[in-house]
Amino acid sequence: MAYQTLLTEITEGILIITINREEKLNSLNKYVVSELEQAIDEFVADASIVGCIITGKGNKAFVAGADISEFQGMDVSAGKVLAKRGHDVFNKIENSPKPIIAAVNGFALGGGCELAMACHLRIASENAKFGQPEVKLGIIPGYGGTQRLVQLIGKGKALELLMTADTIDAHEAQKLGLANQVVQTVELIDACKTMIKKIASWAPIAIAKVVECVQAHFTDGIDGFNTEIEKFGECVATEDFKEGASAFIEKRKAKFAGK
Ligand code: COA
Repeated sequence: MAYQTLLTEITEGILIITINREEKLNSLNKYVVSELEQAIDEFVADASIVGCIITGKGNKAFVAGADISEFQGMDVSAGKVLAKRGHDVFNKIENSPKPIIAAVNGFALGGGCELAMACHLRIASENAKFGQPEVKLGIIPGYGGTQRLVQLIGKGKALELLMTADTIDAHEAQKLGLANQVVQTVELIDACKTMIKKIASWAPIAIAKVVECVQAHFTDGIDGFNTEIEKFGECVATEDFKEGASAFIEKRKAKFAGK
């Protein structure tokens, strides 16, 4: 599928989505958000693709935020609609049953940091910079940033970043648990592919259920422990578990069918 604001490529069964607005530091306008949704829907539906990498075009920015030019002249209800739309799309990313990794190659500010946080994992290049500078503009994060930042780095540090609007580098982000790994810029995509291949070598149903259980922890009205009991029960009845257990006993590598 051809997009106006995204470049997509499938290599070794991995979808690479590149946000392609380099001249605007890959900021997220409504077209990017819609196309991201489409690309993620297609990714989830396509069983031949085992994982996805999201990155930004060029070496300067992953995504430098939501497109500020679209905010002007909005009233309360338009602001809520915009935020809800971002939430819906980012929730799809977060709930994907297959791994989605943010390859953070430069500025990940505002909506860019929020997009990276919606991905399951974040691998940052040495030049990555993370931050939620919205208060400088008189707004707050609207694509889940106030929630996911707390979930990832804890309340104290999240409040610090959200209230000071400070930007942190890749190593600080890793120290805080915001970035999973920091690599040289030239190694960024390969590092993401390596991580996806490792995840994709395990039982796909088990991976999907890990995502469901972790999400349950953060979902109001759902007891994550009960979810885990349910999902564990479902896993032991899969062909993949039979294969995984037999392979262990027979001292060979398991071949998972995703059934
Ligand atoms: N929305 C819309 N346009 C943006 C943007 C955003 N979030 N971030 C950058 N751009 C545009 C700039 O307006 C500029 O466009 P122009 O060349 O037509 O004037 C272009 O991208 C390059 O950005 P510029 O600011 O000139 O680069 P810089 O190297 O001087 O600064 C940043 C880089 C990231 C520090 C700076 O662009 C910035 O602060 N961006 C906004 C970050 C932000 O507040 N994000 C949260 C938004 S809710």
